[in-house]
Amino acid sequence: MIVLGFETSCDETGVSLLENEKVLFNNIYSQQIHSHFGGVVPEIASREHTERVLKMTEEILKESKLTINDIDGIAVTYGPGLLCSLLIGLSFAKGLAYSTGIPFVGVNHLEAHIYSPFITSPECSYPFLSLLVSGGHTSIVKVDGFRDYKVLGSTLDDACGESFDKVSKLIGIGYPGGPVIQNFARKGKDDAFNFPVPDPGALNFSYSGLKTSVLYTYRDIPYAERIYKIPDIAASFQKAAIETLIIKLKRAVNMTGIDRISISGGVSANKLLRKRLEELDVDWIAPSAEFTVDNGAMVAFLGYKLLKEDIRSDFDLKANPRLFLN
Ligand code: KG4
Ligand code: ZN
Repeated sequence: MIVLGFETSCDETGVSLLENEKVLFNNIYSQQIHSHFGGVVPEIASREHTERVLKMTEEILKESKLTINDIDGIAVTYGPGLLCSLLIGLSFAKGLAYSTGIPFVGVNHLEAHIYSPFITSPECSYPFLSLLVSGGHTSIVKVDGFRDYKVLGSTLDDACGESFDKVSKLIGIGYPGGPVIQNFARKGKDDAFNFPVPDPGALNFSYSGLKTSVLYTYRDIPYAERIYKIPDIAASFQKAAIETLIIKLKRAVNMTGIDRISISGGVSANKLLRKRLEELDVDWIAPSAEFTVDNGAMVAFLGYKLLKEDIRSDFDLKANPRLFLN
């Protein structure tokens, strides 16, 4: 079965082509324009999706030497995300499915992230713990079976990736914050500043206090010295932001007795997070780099699994910006 996958929930336009569980092409356009604003501007994001999605679909068909008649299924993210961004991909996918008669299915973006490590690694046996860490979400989920989830903890305020983005904006080093902070951190001392490692109890997360602590520290540094302190701030912040994930994961392992961990979402690309997981006595897997950021392949991958089970969506499927895991 050949599946076309579309992802337009935020600021990445993703179009991907998959044959059964094998990704043939994974084209991602990351909208750099938002770096001028230090964060995603929804109106601009949806315009960019509109300009890209048809072109990218034509390109991927050309590259693969396939025509639309060779496609057996269409999968598209319908939530969560920015409403106007979701609507572009969803409307495009619906139009394509309606005009060709190709079956289509709406995919939950969070579920697509959860299954993304299995595009390149053998699937974990159930149950396993999934750490979903992105710009919009930070959760630990117990996965008891295919699409059988229990959310054990989530963030009470900012998401982990969001805190990287906000801190990066605060210290003026660019967007998205995760990769730039990771880069600056390599040149800094992670014990230069003693930022608090957030632990709001149980398996919940909180990043707003850490962000505020960075803000106050940065404000107290004399203006002329700030630029020299950026690597140390990046390293110290990154250490605290990642350590809280590790504390919660260890706690989740102790509470559930499950030591199979899968990480996914943009922050799962973080090298310190992967290093710290390596030091724990657990089995863990992560998506390969191209499937950590938002992408169409993870949508096509889960879409394929659904379509194979004859799960399809109706044309009245609505975009749902607040979709969560049930
Ligand atoms: O999964 P994703 O592409 O989009 C959402 O679904 O939100 O995640 C994007 C987030 C951004 O906040 C970005 O700063 C963060 O992932 N990120 C990272 C790294 N690479 C991306 N955070 C920490 N370290 C990284 N290496
Ligand atoms: Zn995402």
